[in-house]
Amino acid sequence: MTKLLILPGSARRDSYNRKLAAVAARVATDAGAEVDLIDPAEYDLPLFNQEIEDATGLPEAAKRLKERFTAADAILFVSPEYNSSIAPLMKNYIDWVSRTETDDEPALSAYRGKVAGLLSASPGKLGGLRGLVHLRAILGNIGVLVVPKQFSLSGADGKFDDTGKLTEESAEKSVRGVIQEVLSVAGKLG
Ligand code: FNR
Repeated sequence: MTKLLILPGSARRDSYNRKLAAVAARVATDAGAEVDLIDPAEYDLPLFNQEIEDATGLPEAAKRLKERFTAADAILFVSPEYNSSIAPLMKNYIDWVSRTETDDEPALSAYRGKVAGLLSASPGKLGGLRGLVHLRAILGNIGVLVVPKQFSLSGADGKFDDTGKLTEESAEKSVRGVIQEVLSVAGKLG
């Protein structure tokens, strides 16, 4: 069974990306994945600063987050778009998890060989699509295999009902398409 980590890049309580991540968690569970959905409220990480790392090593929250990345076969990033790129919270997670803790630990060990899928949500017309272009490039450069399929939920402020379900079947189908591709590639890689 593929272990799929789902990482929303917004800590906002009413975040559309968190809602989309919750939808993705249900869809992935139905598709047969073992899902690990991150709650950003559990990871109150400082903005990355090498002085912190030099003084005390990785903060405890960064270690916990990195462990969950390491345990995963595949990762679904659910990313807001800020000023046409990824939100700083998402980049901060990526940066902290990229760090090694011992001299003999291979660089980027939590990322290399992992499969990833990309989702985004925004009230805007492009749904955060431009941010995913940057996220895809970042992940590719650190050894993550990002599947071609991705989905950006536009007009996200009108696309969830009171229970958090997507109101358009076509949107859920697109989420399912990304997840199926991630699980298929992860399954082939073993
Ligand atoms: C935004 N937002 C935004 N949306 C978008 O589609 N493209 C963009 O470039 C930006 N830029 C941007 C910059 C900053 C600083 C903020 C705070 C917001 C709007 C953004 O999509 C919206 O606030 C979402 O609700 C953020 O995602 P969550 O928190 O709902 O998941």
